[in-house]
Amino acid sequence: MASPMRSLLTNPDRYLRSFRLFLEKSTEHQSMREFMERQLPDVIASIGNGKSTINVLSIGGGAGEMDLLILSKVQARYPGVPINNEVIEPSADQISKYKERVAQTSNLGKVKFTWHEETADEYESRMTAEKKSKKWDFIHMIQMLYYVKDIPATVRYFHSLLESQAKLLIILVSGT
Ligand SMILES: C[S@@+](CC[C@H](N)C(=O)[O-])C[C@H]1O[C@@H](n2cnc3c(N)ncnc32)[C@H](O)[C@@H]1O
Repeated sequence: MASPMRSLLTNPDRYLRSFRLFLEKSTEHQSMREFMERQLPDVIASIGNGKSTINVLSIGGGAGEMDLLILSKVQARYPGVPINNEVIEPSADQISKYKERVAQTSNLGKVKFTWHEETADEYESRMTAEKKSKKWDFIHMIQMLYYVKDIPATVRYFHSLLESQAKLLIILVSGT
């Protein structure tokens, strides 16, 4: 039987309403913002050392709220270094909101955005079919692992795409 989370995804409007309601009622984004302010700078402290471009992969980036916060921290750590930010996001509506957010944000001149309208599994299958294994300096999966078919396999695949000094950030809501 499909899980309640998965059935939400088959109805994008209902999913987005539910997610917005969840954000309003929970302290989730507030907690994540605190993490981004206090701990992320240490996490990304060495990801771009010696790099001419920093490659960031966002998996399930949604409307980009957390992504842009992350990018601002990478820019603060590596001022002037170009950033290649690619987003794997299956919802066209979320991608459109993400693009609006980028358009309304200043100081993103050195950031190149690419959106892939597909799931994490579809990205892996496409890369495998095209015999590509692009490496990344920072990969993040924020509040999205609930939706993949096989969590360990997904984490293993994206972990294999990390550069030597790179980091993989996973954020999930805990039961408590
Ligand atoms: C709860 S939202 C989190 C969005 C954003 N990371 C944040 O924290 O604000 C989960 C996102 O994952 C996306 N998603 C759902 N299934 C996915 C999959 N199999 N692969 C990649 N992204 C997925 C959804 O469309 C949604 O934008």
